[in-house]
Amino acid sequence: NERNTYKIAVIAGDGIGQETVPEGLKVLSAAARLFDIGLDFEEHDFASCDYYARHGEMMPGDWKSRIIDSDAIFFGAVGWPDTVPDHVSLWGSLLKFRREFDQYANLRPVRLMPGVPCPLAGKSPGDIDFWVVRENTEGEYSSIGGKIFEGTDRETVMQETVMTRQGVDRILRYAFEIAERTERKTLTSATKSNGISITMPYWDERVLEMAKSFPDIAVDKYHIDILTALFVLKPERFNVVVASNLFGDILSDLGPACTGTIGIAPSGNINPTRTFPSLFEPVHGSAPDIAGQGIANPVGQIWCGAMMLDHLGHPEAASAVVAAIESVLSDPERRTSDLGGEADTRGCGDAVLEALEKHV
Ligand code: NAI
Ligand code: MG
Repeated sequence: NERNTYKIAVIAGDGIGQETVPEGLKVLSAAARLFDIGLDFEEHDFASCDYYARHGEMMPGDWKSRIIDSDAIFFGAVGWPDTVPDHVSLWGSLLKFRREFDQYANLRPVRLMPGVPCPLAGKSPGDIDFWVVRENTEGEYSSIGGKIFEGTDRETVMQETVMTRQGVDRILRYAFEIAERTERKTLTSATKSNGISITMPYWDERVLEMAKSFPDIAVDKYHIDILTALFVLKPERFNVVVASNLFGDILSDLGPACTGTIGIAPSGNINPTRTFPSLFEPVHGSAPDIAGQGIANPVGQIWCGAMMLDHLGHPEAASAVVAAIESVLSDPERRTSDLGGEADTRGCGDAVLEALEKHV
């Protein structure tokens, strides 16, 4: 019986990352033991503002060679605005990972969990359960453009959207492949081909083309304006939603917000070709206002661990961790105070661990 061993680069970063990452590792270690998966954690102190204070930069010059051989990166949060401006800490760390490791897919689950108050009326756990897949490298977020006649009446600014066949096709293929692994086998494409008359019709065209390779997936598309309305009005209908960089940015915040889970939501920055490691991080930041108090909710971090296990090819371990999270969230004694619970960070992490061991 062959046992896979994966090398995981662990970067806790700043603030509550220091408190949530140990809980994530605790649960990951237990899942590894229960499902016979080898996880080799290698912790790094860079990509943090403490590192910056000591070295004058966010990461060492050889950061890339130190983590490029990892199978995945398990990341906490970065940012400590009192000492390092956010654009310095972000551009000096996370954005470098995303670019240099070509993490072209941003993946976020949207799932209504028990114990989490849903801002949408009349929805219960099970009603909302889908994925948002965002293109993470091109599209509307290009640096192509410029400014002329600055400071005059003719002042003119322009910024171009860049869609390459490679860039569009690879994100679509990734999203279709996720849809194929789901039961519902449906995929929704976000577009705006009525208003954006060149790039978005191209996007639609590539969706149709890609759909030919996935005959068992039912595809639909919505313009982004009505799509945002449907996220709120009829979230039940979605399974996998794929979107360009800008639309995906919006949808990947709106989706989790509709389930009340921004604070516990995980995300993956994925390099689907597996040429480089993918990075898993909670959606929340370093939360300086509560850092060091031991009260941060560790669920976003733990859920990241589940996504990472899934990415590594262990969906059964991933589902077990998500099930353990669900059981803990449904119990006020085991969830943290941000969700009206009584547990502290460690207590909540221990509870997930216990639920996991019981479940398996
Ligand atoms: P934040 O997510 O750190 O905090 C927003 C609010 O949510 C705060 O009141 C915080 O206490 C609360 N919160 C966040 N996570 C929580 C948790 N796990 N449990 C309980 N409460 C939680 O966002 P903010 O305040 O805008 O940013 C703080 C720092 O984090 C900044 O330096 C920012 O740049 C950075 N940041 C980093 C991200 C990353 O590493 N990907 C993402 C977002 C922000
Ligand atoms: Mg955003």
